[in-house]
Amino acid sequence: MSSALLLCLGSLGWSDRARAACVCKTWRQVLQQPNLWRSLDLSDNQNAGQWLPALMHCPAFRQHLKDLNLQYAVGVTDSHLKHLQGAPLEHLNLNVCQDLTDDGISGLILKAPLLCTIQLYWLPRISDTVLYCIGATCPALTRLNLSGCIGISDGGIKAIAKTCHHLTDIDLTKCMKMQASRLWQTAID
Ligand SMILES: *[C@@H]1O[C@H](CO)[C@@H](O)[C@H](O)[C@H]1NC(C)=O
Repeated sequence: MSSALLLCLGSLGWSDRARAACVCKTWRQVLQQPNLWRSLDLSDNQNAGQWLPALMHCPAFRQHLKDLNLQYAVGVTDSHLKHLQGAPLEHLNLNVCQDLTDDGISGLILKAPLLCTIQLYWLPRISDTVLYCIGATCPALTRLNLSGCIGISDGGIKAIAKTCHHLTDIDLTKCMKMQASRLWQTAID
């Protein structure tokens, strides 16, 4: 467990604190505060595919993680997202994680009913399946970025429009397959 903890904290640039936590009760208590585990930024990380499972091995992350940023993270695949299932995610940024497909993203979203911000910019491999899952699972959604998702179509957007009543901000630019995107974008603006 202590090595997992070190791994977790080390990645966040907290290695000094982590070492202290292993020897000092006060520091350990400090580290139990949920707000220290609420966000994880692995954007642009070149080894995110390896870090993610290791970090999510930490019970504190699994219990408290609300805000995850994987924008431009390298090496993240569908199987890595499985390690996130059960975290109380509210904000998810998967922009340009181009290996991800419907399987991985849908599996995660179906276990993350608290999501209110989802960024899926430039994910050419996803289809309406992901949007059906969002529509079925995320009633609190307020922001959705689908710019550059060339595999989605009007059917998926309709599913979201039907159930995500709090959605105020949607980016459908560069979604070539879509007929209604322009209209809807205008309607919601
Ligand atoms: C969607 O994401 C892209 C890439 O980060 C960004 O340029 C764009 O502004 C975003 N759209 C919205 C509405 O935030």
